Amino acid sequence: MTAQLIDGTALSKTLRADVATRAAALTARGHKPGLAVVLVGDNPASEVYVRNKVKACQDNGLHSVFDRFPATLSEAELLAHIDALNHDPKIHGILVQLPLPAHIDSHKVIEAIAPEKDVDGFHVANAGALLTGKPLFRPCTPYGVMKMFEAHGIALKGANAVVIGRSNIVGKPMALLLLEAGATVTICHSKTRDLAAHTRQADVVVAAVGRRNVLTADMVKPGATVIDVGMNRDEAGKLCGDVDFAGVREVAAYITPVPGGVGPMTITMLLVNTIEAAERAGRD
Ligand code: GUN
Repeated sequence: MTAQLIDGTALSKTLRADVATRAAALTARGHKPGLAVVLVGDNPASEVYVRNKVKACQDNGLHSVFDRFPATLSEAELLAHIDALNHDPKIHGILVQLPLPAHIDSHKVIEAIAPEKDVDGFHVANAGALLTGKPLFRPCTPYGVMKMFEAHGIALKGANAVVIGRSNIVGKPMALLLLEAGATVTICHSKTRDLAAHTRQADVVVAAVGRRNVLTADMVKPGATVIDVGMNRDEAGKLCGDVDFAGVREVAAYITPVPGGVGPMTITMLLVNTIEAAERAGRD
């Protein structure tokens, strides 16, 4: 069996059309949705991600500001900038691109963002709300993955789901969303004793560790759904994920490619969260 591709670019196109419609409606009512993207330092990967986020805003009728700071910016200066954005009525969403330089405490920075503008869903108030079942914002990457399951009618109720990776950005919130959807969830990570023993039982595997070939064909149950959140480069410099795509696609029923899978969905859900933040602000 060759797996069916879950095309994140195509699904994003549909969802972004809805974003653009809602952005136009808000703009007509004098509430143009606005996103502030903050980048500190010159991490080349972050630079690409951030530019794509700003461009997606422009393409879909959202206002965006891109605030770039040198790696020498102090924590106090960054906190003061976030405070200004918290009070800016044109800004409904604030995204501070991670990772931050080592001298800045990223927890402190995330907690400084007003929870109602935390479109990443990383603030403890939002992470806690997700844990207790009433999320204000769902973190963009796992939220995008949930939309992929939904779009392809992939059943999660009672399914065995394995999440590989336990980051605050992807692994932990992904596990919570799968749990909310009724899956039996296992979180595997670098200390897991026998990863393959877990993944071979899984109807759904989400790989989010940032290392190539973490999941190979022999580790996948025939007919499983495999989601690849990884963004790595192979020896030739070509973009690739965490999954051995060529091998696993011959075993799985559904698989996401890299590029063109989860990546565009992350940005799409950022737009969706920003629209929702602006709609909420417009109702107040
Ligand atoms: N770095 C890697 N992924 C993300 C993300 O989704 N949001 C932010 N703010 N930083 C990231």
